[in-house]
Amino acid sequence: MASNNENMPPREEATTHFGFKTVDEASKAGMVREVFDSVADDYDRMNDVMSVGVHRLWKNSMINTLNPRPGMHLLDVAGGTGDIAFRFLDACAGGTVTVSDINAEMLRVGAKRAEENGYRDRAEFVCADAQKLPFPDCSMDAYTIAFGIRNVTRIEEALSEAYRVLKPGGRFLCLEFSHEILPLFKKAYDAYSFNVIPKMGEIVANDYDSYEYLVESIRRFPVPAKFEAMIKTAGFERTSYRTMSVGVVALHSGWRI
Ligand SMILES: C[S@@+](CC[C@H](N)C(=O)[O-])C[C@H]1O[C@@H](n2cnc3c(N)ncnc32)[C@H](O)[C@@H]1O
Repeated sequence: MASNNENMPPREEATTHFGFKTVDEASKAGMVREVFDSVADDYDRMNDVMSVGVHRLWKNSMINTLNPRPGMHLLDVAGGTGDIAFRFLDACAGGTVTVSDINAEMLRVGAKRAEENGYRDRAEFVCADAQKLPFPDCSMDAYTIAFGIRNVTRIEEALSEAYRVLKPGGRFLCLEFSHEILPLFKKAYDAYSFNVIPKMGEIVANDYDSYEYLVESIRRFPVPAKFEAMIKTAGFERTSYRTMSVGVVALHSGWRI
């Protein structure tokens, strides 16, 4: 299935959500870019603080599920500062990775980490929108996207692009927050996310608004069963998902057969 982005008519009047706000579709990507421009330097530290380090376990779990085979090439979309990419390189003898992200600041931090940690010759960093990837059809062994897809304006287009760039037999994995929390934990989770996380953002990263956007954007993202249906619609087969940490995140899988 090839991406049909170029053939789509402009949808100037279309609106979408940015957290709990309604905005023009055309302005969302710029607003998301501002969020990550603002948090790039504090992003890794904030992840540890907000999740009490648990984001590391979720990301390890994603790479364990991928179970990389030697020499494979991964495309990590919305790869930001490289957390998924570096885990992949540690787990994959002779593997190489393309980290792609719409935000040059996040990639700058990622490239610096790659340099400092000896990954530079196995990792490339490409600034690109997940909705329009600058990679040939059927060129990637695997595609990952972690905590990125809920920021994308037209999720269907990103999924269609994921399908297009994967080789037949290639694996799609998406790690994303969910708001389908086990009922017993829902109240505490909501209180923590709405009352604590933006304040933490203010204290640690001097940025309340970006972390308010984070918690709001999670609520606007489709629940796991609905998102799985979207992955299927993009053409993927043998789709599945599992939730972790009482439903705080979901790991989705699909194959291009
Ligand atoms: C929460 S960060 C996740 C970074 C990394 N994957 C991780 O798990 O640590 C979300 C990333 O998505 C990127 N992003 C947002 N919209 C995007 C788009 N349309 N295309 C590509 N990347 C996008 C942001 O720039 C940001 O780096």
